[in-house]
Amino acid sequence: MGALTQSPAWQQLLRHAEGIEKTTLADIVFGDAGRISGCDIKLDGLRFNYALNHATPETIGLLVKLAVQQKLPEWRDRMFAGEKINTTENRAVLHTALRAKNGPVLIDGKDVFPEIAAVRQRMTRFAEEVRSGKRKGATGKSFRHVVNIGIGGSDLGPRLAARALTPYINGPKPHFVANVDAFDLLSVLKDLDPAETLFLVVSKTFTTQETLLNARSARQWLVAALGEKAVSDHFVAVSVNEAEVRKFGIDTGNMFPMWDWVGGRYSLWSAIGLSVALAIGAENFQKLLDGAATVDAHFKTAPLDKNIPVLMALLGVWHRNFRHAGALAVLPYCERLRDLPRFLQQLDMESNGKSVTRDGASIDYSTSPVIFGDCGTVGQHSFHQWLHQGSDIVPADFIGVAEDAVGRPEHHAALLSNMLAQMAALACGRPQASMPYEVYAGGRSSNLLLLDRLDPACLGMLLALYEHKIFTQGVLWNVNSFDQPGVELGKKLAHDLEAHKPSQNPAGHLTVKLSENLLPFLWK
Ligand code: F6P
Repeated sequence: MGALTQSPAWQQLLRHAEGIEKTTLADIVFGDAGRISGCDIKLDGLRFNYALNHATPETIGLLVKLAVQQKLPEWRDRMFAGEKINTTENRAVLHTALRAKNGPVLIDGKDVFPEIAAVRQRMTRFAEEVRSGKRKGATGKSFRHVVNIGIGGSDLGPRLAARALTPYINGPKPHFVANVDAFDLLSVLKDLDPAETLFLVVSKTFTTQETLLNARSARQWLVAALGEKAVSDHFVAVSVNEAEVRKFGIDTGNMFPMWDWVGGRYSLWSAIGLSVALAIGAENFQKLLDGAATVDAHFKTAPLDKNIPVLMALLGVWHRNFRHAGALAVLPYCERLRDLPRFLQQLDMESNGKSVTRDGASIDYSTSPVIFGDCGTVGQHSFHQWLHQGSDIVPADFIGVAEDAVGRPEHHAALLSNMLAQMAALACGRPQASMPYEVYAGGRSSNLLLLDRLDPACLGMLLALYEHKIFTQGVLWNVNSFDQPGVELGKKLAHDLEAHKPSQNPAGHLTVKLSENLLPFLWK
């Protein structure tokens, strides 16, 4: 067994897990009159309630001991201090600096806050020039549509924020193209007038195949309509890679830089979020940043047992490593948060879907769970059968919004009643029933994140909570949450196949064999 699983805190939790099996979740909840209020933490426009977890105050105490043993406070301080904790890429991890009100933000002794502030200011000015019509397209028309061409962290965060903040959109309508399947691009372009369309080519590396191919096709579409000269008015780039941006043919004056110390899946707060700033305006984009900054301060200062992202992380480790849950269900009871499960799939599974420690040792414990989910109440008619009576027991994060933003109280009451009913049914079940198939075992744990309203500030808080939760779990599991080496092989195999390059390894040989046998028509 490895160092972590042999460690005192881990061993104590293993013993505790055996003992707690004798107590049902219903016993825990009903056995303490103050349980629900005692497991409730309010932070500005958001509250976190963890009462419906199969975990007692003793469990929380032992989990906090694990966090202390794994030096979570020290790692947290190292991240905020700009230390290069992304060890495989020798980079700092400072997405938090993007929402800081002021500096200094030191990397290798250099204060990078001035350049953060300068880019934020450029973004703001650009957004307001486009929104006001001061900045127009090649034919003199204002921009009514913005197409974000990007994938992964260059798509999922902005896409989520744009839909979540729909009521705040009073600028050009944002559209998102990510997949290299041309249907994605063409289904967006078919309804747009080139003269009123601004393209954002969003790619931290500016080498991502899908994004560059989509961008080239979008460029052809624009040039066919308005001529080559229109490109400089209608294309903007967001990237670290100035040379590749120039090579693509976008003027670097139309480029918003970002930095290698911001991970793609943590980058909404940078110019990667430009489509959102264009849609909702600079003031609301700043409120998004401020919401995240509120959580940063909370994460830095709240005691570990009163620290929302820490508790989310510890309970996740408890369910994953000591109650053997293979997945986490993300259930936003809010249609505007429909993209949250997909966003968290990348944020969580690309960050902690690892099986070697920071020191390169193989792990003998589980790391990131499968993240899946859908909006409530839609999921109730899809996979909730599995949640209630399936062979696997997994925890769920319910996310609700207290405010009825559309003035339909009957609908809102139904939505939130269903949310609470699902939480209760998962927790308590129905142990007695006339037929075995009607029995619900219960014992399914859940968290509740309740937003006062779904506004920019609360959205910023929600996303920052998950960022810090996932960072915390990476610390506990001793993995590097900020690289993604597991995405490279597939990219290379596809590239070599397309280029008809001789294969260098068994996977390459197999890719060719599959192509010859299954898709022989591809290369005719
Ligand atoms: O999935 C791999 C990945 O590198 C992600 O981490 C990243 O968000 C995405 O591809 C897009 O990368 P880029 O922004 O460099 O195009």
